[in-house]
Amino acid sequence: MPAQILPKEAYYSAEWFQREQETLFANTWQLVAFDSDFGQAGDYVTARIGVQPIAVVQDVDGNLNAFKNICRHRGTELLEGKGNAGKTLVCPYHRWTFGLDGRLRGVPDRSECFPDLDRKSLNLHNAAIGRWKGMVFANPNPNARFDEWISPLDAAPFPHDITSEKLERSEEFVYRIKCNWKVFFENAIDGYHLAYLHENTLGGPKTGLNVWDQHGEHMVWYSTERDGIKNRIPVFVEKQAKGGGMPTFKGAKDPGYGGVYMMFPTTLIVPSPWSLTVSTIEPIDGDTMIMRSRTWSPKSWWSYKEPLKGTPGYDPESGLIESKNWTQPALETGDFQTEDVWVCEKMQRSLRAPDYSVAALAEGVGGEVMLAEFQKMVRDACT
Ligand code: FES
Ligand SMILES: [Fe+2]
Repeated sequence: MPAQILPKEAYYSAEWFQREQETLFANTWQLVAFDSDFGQAGDYVTARIGVQPIAVVQDVDGNLNAFKNICRHRGTELLEGKGNAGKTLVCPYHRWTFGLDGRLRGVPDRSECFPDLDRKSLNLHNAAIGRWKGMVFANPNPNARFDEWISPLDAAPFPHDITSEKLERSEEFVYRIKCNWKVFFENAIDGYHLAYLHENTLGGPKTGLNVWDQHGEHMVWYSTERDGIKNRIPVFVEKQAKGGGMPTFKGAKDPGYGGVYMMFPTTLIVPSPWSLTVSTIEPIDGDTMIMRSRTWSPKSWWSYKEPLKGTPGYDPESGLIESKNWTQPALETGDFQTEDVWVCEKMQRSLRAPDYSVAALAEGVGGEVMLAEFQKMVRDACT
């Protein structure tokens, strides 16, 4: 029987959070941007990988470079949000200036204030960068090898080309969720709950009728309800969707693609015949995480243009989707994401209780076996 591996403290304690930041998140790949965010020299995107501020910048040769977004003078965050920085990256605090390649170029009043400064040793700290199917990944460890991490996924068909001009990208959905990031990740790879928590939204499949394939550190989910043949969507969802008028992706090359791709540790891709949603999990502290989601769909399908305001828990003031703003019970929303957030927050509220424990994990890769696999990866990265 698969067993719970991580101790319960791993899901809330500040010590575990800090340890993850110093080990796992200091050396793992995270999705930080998309190809479509870039085009001209100076275009940049900022992101966080755990507690580390990261910037990806396009240089004059058209290359993307990833840096720690930390000014080398006294550490101010250099760039904010996304945009175009022009020809150089200028720290607003004392105007130290860096090239688009991260080299320190200018220090105001240098001869007077810093007569002995070794300028060459004060370039921006590098991060590693990798590009895959229109997505840009970074790793705080500048020596990390992207190909080693990504190549196992080559064995799994991938459906949609998000760089296609025929698609449009939704606005960003930002969820603030009151649970540890691992509670959310484990829920996403839990095949046991699909038929129960999501009875009215995803409608299963049951434990024996779905599988997770492992590809290196990544996991790809399939429904096997159709005579054991791997399919990307539950039968229940397919039936509901038929007749909904949604245009399908024309370019999906391989119908053998999966329904969920979990890229360890924090990237989550959900393709369907009608859409592709790419989400990132951002741990905030032991009890809180942010999830950012963007959806691509065939152009001019109305419902993906302004779906944000109809999302349960969305507050236009803060721009955040949060459970405190829900106006109806989660199970009545008809939104499986809301159901997941609801149950993850319910679990988080129990974790500190002395009587909290995990009795067992369900057998089977369509049960809860993948939770143990995930926990092993976290444990190995943190020790
Ligand atoms: S902290 Fe950036 S110039 Fe001083
Ligand atoms: Fe779920």
